[in-house]
Amino acid sequence: MFVLAAIGSAVGLGNIWKFPYLAGQHGGGAFVLIYLVSVAVIGVPIMIAEILIGRRGRGSPINSLRTLAVEEHRSVRWAWLGGMGVVTGFLILSYYSVIGGWTVAYVLRSAAGTFEEASSDAVAAAFNAFVDSPTELALWHTVFTVMTMFVVARGVRGGLERAARYMVPALFVILLLLVGYAAASGSFADGFAFLFALDFARVSGAAVLAALGQAFFSLSLGMGAIMAYGAYLPREVSIARSAVQVAVADTLVALLAALAIFPIIFANGLDPSVQSVALAFIALPLAFGHMPGGTVFGTLFFVLLVFAAWTSAISIIEPAVAHMVERWEMSRRRASLLAGAGVWLLGLGTVLSFNRWSEYTWFGRTFFELIDFATSNVMLPLGGLLIALYAGWVMRREASAGELALSPAGYATWRGVIRYVTPFAMLLVLLQASGVLRLG
Ligand code: TRP
Repeated sequence: MFVLAAIGSAVGLGNIWKFPYLAGQHGGGAFVLIYLVSVAVIGVPIMIAEILIGRRGRGSPINSLRTLAVEEHRSVRWAWLGGMGVVTGFLILSYYSVIGGWTVAYVLRSAAGTFEEASSDAVAAAFNAFVDSPTELALWHTVFTVMTMFVVARGVRGGLERAARYMVPALFVILLLLVGYAAASGSFADGFAFLFALDFARVSGAAVLAALGQAFFSLSLGMGAIMAYGAYLPREVSIARSAVQVAVADTLVALLAALAIFPIIFANGLDPSVQSVALAFIALPLAFGHMPGGTVFGTLFFVLLVFAAWTSAISIIEPAVAHMVERWEMSRRRASLLAGAGVWLLGLGTVLSFNRWSEYTWFGRTFFELIDFATSNVMLPLGGLLIALYAGWVMRREASAGELALSPAGYATWRGVIRYVTPFAMLLVLLQASGVLRLG
C-alpha cells in the first residue's frame, strides 16, 4: 500500500510533461544520463532517508523531524526543514494545478475528436490559442485546484492507493501502445538516438542542475511528501526495497513517455529544443490524431494523466494542510479551503505568465519559470541536502541501522553515500547554480 501511494505521488506531470521537455531543452542524451545517475546516486538514498525519518517519527514531517531531533538531543530547529517543505509544496502546487488544468481540458478536446487527422501546425496552433487565453487557463486551473482540495479536505488515505493500483498500470499500457505506434510510424531511431546518444559537448552546468532538480521533482523528494507517507509504513516492510521499487516505476514511466514523444516530434519535423512546455501537448495529440482508435485511446490517456496529476497534487499539498490542522487547530476542511485559496491565487500568476505577463521577466524568467526554478532547482535540492545531513549526521547509527534493517554491507553503503557522496555532489550543483562556482 505504501509503495502504491508513493508511486501515485511520484508518477505525474513530472514524468509525462516535464521530463520530456527538459530532455528536449537540455540536449537529450547527456541530460537523460545525468538524470538516471541522479535518481540512483542521490534520489534513492534520499528517498530511503525520508521514509526512514517518517516511519521513525510517525508524524507529520515537521513533528517527525522535531521528535527525532529531541531523541538525539539536537536542536528542535530542525523542524524548520519541515516548514520549508510546507512552503515549497504550496509554491509547487500553484503551478502544478495550472498544468493539471491543461490535462483536464485536453480530455474534453480529445473526446470531441479535435485532433483527428490534425496537422502538426494545427495541433500547435490549438495549444498556443489555448494558453493565450487567461480566462480558459484560469477556468481549468480552478477546476483542478477544487478537485485536489476536495480530496484533501476529506482526508486522503485509501482512495490514493486504489487510484494508483489501477491508474499506473493502465497508463503504462497506453504508453507502451504509444511507443509501439512511435516505432511503427517513423522516426523512432532519431528519437531513440536523441535520448540515449551521449554528447558530452552538450553537458552544461544548467543541464546538470535541471537533471538533479527533475530527479527530486519526479520522485517527490525534498519537501517531506514521501516522509509524510512513510509515517504509515509498517515496521516489517523493507524501506530500501520500497524506495527502489518506487524509483524504478517512476523512471520507467518517464522513459516510456519520452520514447513515445520524441519519435513523433522528429517525424513531424519539430525541434524539441524550442517546444518547451508545449512538447507533450503537441506530440501526444498528434500521435492520437493519426493512430487507429486514437480518439478513444487519446481520451483514455488524458483521463489517466488527470488521475496521475491528481494523486501527485494531493501529496504536494498534504504536508501543508496537515501542518495547518496541527498548528492552528483548525478543521481539515477549513485548512484545505485556506490552502486551496492561496494556491489558486498564486496560480493566477502562472496563468498570466503564459499570456498577459509573458513579457515580464525577473532574472530572465517569467513568473512560472521563476517559481519552477526556485522550487525544483533550489528549494527541493536544498531540502534534500538537509534531509541527507539529518539522516546521516543527526540520527545515530543505531537509530537508522535498526530502522533500515539492511545487511551490514548494504547499510554501510547507504550511510557512506548519505553522509558524504550525496551532500558533496549536491553542494557542488547548488554552488554552481548560485554562480559561486563556474565549472563551465
Ligand atoms: N512527482 C510528481 C510528478 O512527477 C510531483 C510531486 C508530487 C512532487 N509530490 C511532490 C514534486 C513533492 C515535488 C515534491 O508529477
